[in-house]
Amino acid sequence: AGLTQNADGHAVNGMGPSRRPGLHPSTMTSIPSTSEDFWRPALHFTAERFWINDPNGLVFACGQWHLFFQHNPQGNTWGHMSWGHAVSRDLLHWRHLPLAIAEDPTHMAFSGSVVIDDKGTSGLGDGGQAPLVAIYTACAQPPARHQAQHLAFSNDGGTRWTKYAGNPVLDIGAENFRDPKVFWHGPSGRWVMAVVLAHGRIVSFYASADLKHWSHLSDFGPEGGVQGIWECPDLISVPVKDHAGRRAWVLKVDVFEGHPSGGSGAQVFIGDFDGQSFQSTQPARWIDHGSDFYAAISWAHVPAEDGRSVWLGWMNNHRYAAATPTLSWCGAMSIPRVLHVRDDGAALLLCQEPVSELQAARREQRRCGPLGLGAGGADEVVGLGAGDVLDLDIVWRPGTAREFGLLLRCGGEQATRVGWDAERRALFVDRRQSGPGPDDPVFRSPQYAPLAPQADGSVRWRLLLDRCSVEVFADGGAVVLTNLIFPSPGSRELKAFVSGGAAELVTMECWTLEA
Ligand code: FRU
Repeated sequence: AGLTQNADGHAVNGMGPSRRPGLHPSTMTSIPSTSEDFWRPALHFTAERFWINDPNGLVFACGQWHLFFQHNPQGNTWGHMSWGHAVSRDLLHWRHLPLAIAEDPTHMAFSGSVVIDDKGTSGLGDGGQAPLVAIYTACAQPPARHQAQHLAFSNDGGTRWTKYAGNPVLDIGAENFRDPKVFWHGPSGRWVMAVVLAHGRIVSFYASADLKHWSHLSDFGPEGGVQGIWECPDLISVPVKDHAGRRAWVLKVDVFEGHPSGGSGAQVFIGDFDGQSFQSTQPARWIDHGSDFYAAISWAHVPAEDGRSVWLGWMNNHRYAAATPTLSWCGAMSIPRVLHVRDDGAALLLCQEPVSELQAARREQRRCGPLGLGAGGADEVVGLGAGDVLDLDIVWRPGTAREFGLLLRCGGEQATRVGWDAERRALFVDRRQSGPGPDDPVFRSPQYAPLAPQADGSVRWRLLLDRCSVEVFADGGAVVLTNLIFPSPGSRELKAFVSGGAAELVTMECWTLEA
């Protein structure tokens, strides 16, 4: 409300009255860490202050996981887009570094990727070390709207960046041509870029020998979710589980609106890429049934001995991101997730699971179960302890119950419900009483993800709770729900509930987490 939106729906900073009383960008620099820091995640990445959106340029270089990200260095709403920067050695603890690529008077620095030019193809290195090269969209400052692909390079391992004097390197005169994801395609011995024509719902592929000259290869789309514009493509070769050495090509594309849970979300196509064009071999699927997982990209140059495909996404939704209630910072990243593809006979499924590094953050362990609930016919709620940063695994045996599950961050009238609905055979997250949050039906409606009981009849899920988020993983990571919540600091209880019949909580294993 009250925010001006640009053509892509971004709330435009500094134009129109701010929704946050007294928080005009020009006054924000003096705002100290305020009391709302009880929502600041313990384990999820946030900027030291101010707004973030998409992860950018994820690259593993010199033993560090680099996280660049869309950042407004001047305020807590979208605008002045530049690349922020942080590094980690364990994907858990992040060290903030100076702004990497700043906007300039003519352009903002929109999303893109980073590669290590270890073959020296670009000639942008100096001396022996391979340069890091960022390929990003330069978006003309408003009211102009032109978008083209630019390069910046770093010869000190990613701290200081120089914009390439020959920019743009790819310009088709379009206004919605953005988010280049570049990788080295070994078989054809050249760089390949996936980039969107956002309004056309098209991913275009380009090739280059030197990162500076690009030629068009092919187009993919429109296909799958096409209600909203397309953004942030990523084409990734992902290992197929239980098939040693087999990999599948996964093309991820975000949709600005039209996700089944409402607002923005991400879809995947799985198929073949022959170095020239991508063909999907099965219908598109939504990656995450929650409403807060967007613009994910995978880390480039993960060492071969690691072998993992790892990504993270912006834990938010363009529908209501500008109305989330944190004051001195806005936006967090999801937990980094390792990807694999599972062949379930009928289809290839993209599965996401929290990276194993997270286990190092586990502290106190609690166990409970078996526990028969609702046997007397009445709905039942039992206390299981308390906590605001938890990693838990839970196994249920459905009985006659209509619904069973967990109440997180309970206190007073507040609770976030995470459970299983027997009639729908679906896992759900219900934020109707999660605390203050955007006044938006997408935020306030329960979200469902189809989930059948396992072969042994049980229903199980893993859940990561942080101070303003819940991420739920089931069916080996094929079913995921990511959601923001904003409970009061005093709402800390954890409970189990059963309604409309009986169910058994077989076991719950729970750890407190601490970075
Ligand atoms: C996605 C997106 C990208 C764009 C960036 C601008 O969230 O709209 O398409 O590059 O954000 O901040």
